[in-house]
Amino acid sequence: MDAAKQAIELRGLTKDFPLAEKGRYLRAVDDLTISIKENTVFGLLGPNGSGKSTTIRMLLGLSAPSRGEVRVFGKEPRDASVRARIGYLPDAPYYHKFLSGRELMRFFGKLLGMEKSKREARSVELLERFGLGDAMDRKLGSYSKGMLQRLGFAQALIADPDVLVLDEPTAGVDPVGAAEVGEFVLDLKAQGKTVLFCSHLLTQVQDLCDEVGVLNKGRLLASGRIEDLLKPADAGTLKVSGLSEKTRSELEEVVRRSGGELTPGKQDLEELFRTLVSEDEGQAR
Ligand SMILES: Nc1ncnc2c1ncn2[C@@H]1O[C@H](COP(=O)(O)OP(=O)(O)OP(=O)(O)O)[C@@H](O)[C@H]1O
Ligand SMILES: [Mg+2]
Repeated sequence: MDAAKQAIELRGLTKDFPLAEKGRYLRAVDDLTISIKENTVFGLLGPNGSGKSTTIRMLLGLSAPSRGEVRVFGKEPRDASVRARIGYLPDAPYYHKFLSGRELMRFFGKLLGMEKSKREARSVELLERFGLGDAMDRKLGSYSKGMLQRLGFAQALIADPDVLVLDEPTAGVDPVGAAEVGEFVLDLKAQGKTVLFCSHLLTQVQDLCDEVGVLNKGRLLASGRIEDLLKPADAGTLKVSGLSEKTRSELEEVVRRSGGELTPGKQDLEELFRTLVSEDEGQAR
């Protein structure tokens, strides 16, 4: 494998948290090995408590592995040159509630060593892009949960990073917002970025990700390209679309005669929700 093309490499990554009883520990991440090539969208999946956020924190150099190693663009994640190339949306962003959105962006821009005029312009551009243009001078204490999540996105992007690590970017975001997050991830991919994110919205993960890794109790159960992991549905089930009325009735006839069952396709709840809201938004304009 071409090592230069790897954006993220986790090798035998393990994290033990000590328990109250002396000498006992909880293994939150267990011997995890994953390689993610540049310009890949990678979904890290797994039930609550399976070790996703712990993995992410080690990947960012925020938590030291008990064993194993992390490389981002071939270097340790604490390396300053690498750090500036990673944007991070934390799972529970805690921001100072007396700062405004604009001030928070300034703060992160400064932290990453951005020049003043550049960080001002980029802050406003991103806040507007994430629908916070009108709220940017309000204190964060008055932001809704979804607004804070959008701000988290803007913050992660301030220094135009090459790798985006998003810990549940759709948590607390409404379905329209979640669809926007999806578009946004695809946009990042089109720009050549590498994205690693955790999510419990599996339909969206399937639409967005090139590859996934599935964790349970800290162990990697499966990883790779989604199309390689998914088994074909059973041979007796078929999904069809684009039928003319004539073909449809012919098909119904054949299926019925052979004792099969034909179920009309239906819009799903998410589609209904999005249509209702976008129609209403259209009327409001
Ligand atoms: N700082 C810590 N000290 C002790 N145990 C911890 C710590 N952080 C995480 N853990 C434990 O490690 C395990 C993995 O937690 P983690 O937060 O990585 O899960 P997760 O997959 O992100 O879950 P979720 O889907 O709920 O966000 C859990 O059992 C958790 O209790
Ligand atoms: Mg988590």
